[in-house]
Amino acid sequence: MEPFKIKMIEHIQITTKKERIKTLQNCKYNLFNIPSNLVMIDLLTDSGTGAMSDEQWSAIMTGDESYANSKSFENLKKIIHELFNYKFFLPVHQGRAAEAILSSILINKGDLIPSNNHFDTTSANILDRGGTPVNLVADTNIDNSFKGNIDINKLDAFLNNNKERIPYCMVTITNNAGGGQPVSLSNIEDIYNTCKKYNKKLIIDACRFAENSWFIKQREHKYKNWTITNIAKKIFSLSDGATFSAKKDAIVNIGGLLLLNDKDIFENAKNELIIKEGFPTYGGLSGRDINAMAIGLKEGCDEKYLEYRTGQISFLHKKLIDAGIPVISPPGGHAIYIDAGKILPHIPPNQYPAQAFSLECYIEGGIRSVEVGSVMLSFLSPDTNQIIYPKLELVRFAIPRRTYTQSHLLYVIDTIIAVFKRANTIKGIKIIDSPKLLKHFSASFDWIS
Ligand SMILES: Cc1ncc(COP(=O)(O)O)c(C=O)c1O
Repeated sequence: MEPFKIKMIEHIQITTKKERIKTLQNCKYNLFNIPSNLVMIDLLTDSGTGAMSDEQWSAIMTGDESYANSKSFENLKKIIHELFNYKFFLPVHQGRAAEAILSSILINKGDLIPSNNHFDTTSANILDRGGTPVNLVADTNIDNSFKGNIDINKLDAFLNNNKERIPYCMVTITNNAGGGQPVSLSNIEDIYNTCKKYNKKLIIDACRFAENSWFIKQREHKYKNWTITNIAKKIFSLSDGATFSAKKDAIVNIGGLLLLNDKDIFENAKNELIIKEGFPTYGGLSGRDINAMAIGLKEGCDEKYLEYRTGQISFLHKKLIDAGIPVISPPGGHAIYIDAGKILPHIPPNQYPAQAFSLECYIEGGIRSVEVGSVMLSFLSPDTNQIIYPKLELVRFAIPRRTYTQSHLLYVIDTIIAVFKRANTIKGIKIIDSPKLLKHFSASFDWIS
């Protein structure tokens, strides 16, 4: 059961199928364009969409809005020292700001940045600097508990062959673009040691570090009696820095962090932050946002909360598996990922099967999901001038934290099953217009007739 009760509600506008078909037309078949009041269950993202606690709201009222060295910054500093193992940190307005600052300091044209899977903003920041994101996740067909792991042999060979072109390596926990799958502590240790062998830094994309730590506690025997905080500390001790979007595991609506051990990089990052985000004790956030983040970091590591949160995802996952729907298994921590490539084998990647499936879920039940397939992740490689397509065509149904109840989830399950049952009638999609980077946010689409 949910380990909280509801003190405030937000109304949901119930729409009809006919209205939703019209809405999609008006929105050029891009779910990002739909006005949120016309979405019945919004599973577009778990980022910044969670419900804050009464404690967080109280902390908002006592936020210190001083430009420099606020009390709110001191509150954040305290919890960061308890949780993360880094020497320096900077608040930023969200995760991609940390990525942009780091990329602008460390990446030169022609560089390669390996990871398990880079998320879209991470990729875009690397490409924006003339670098190439490289994904080295272990073979996703192997059924194991840590499908976010990096293939260490591949990483070793890649570092050996491209030493001069790699400023740093990354690992995303949990692996959002690869099904929200966790990375084991032993893999993080191997990644770190492999990086050290080639004298490379390891940066963690730590958006969902608490959920990843929960899976380590559940699935990696050695850590079953460890607290989430201690597991997190151990993870961070095996790296040189982290980018963090607080909109996930710190359960706030806005906020992020850049965490570093290297003093020179930190000093450069601080200058970049002052130019682009703000003074180093607020970094583009208000004091109240920083206060809410400090409390959220603690609440996000609470075991009862993590048990409920991952329980919601596995409930959804089980019901869909029972209905015969191909879903990435085992379930990750924040979302379920439906394999639209498998459900719609008649639609090739350049006709965007996952986009088609997500549009149909909106028509069927007013549910907004997000395509994590060729619209979001394909890109033109500056190295080979060819379009690189992702391995999987997924639709992600991300569950906002502490926001939807069990009966909302049952409605989601019924909707997905109804779309699945009429899969062979679903058509492919074409792109009408799109920007070069981060296509999914603003492209317009239409059905292929
Ligand atoms: C793995 C991962 N990295 C980075 C980001 C970017 O964070 P933000 O949206 O706060 O800029 C996200 C956001 O969804 C993410 O899931």
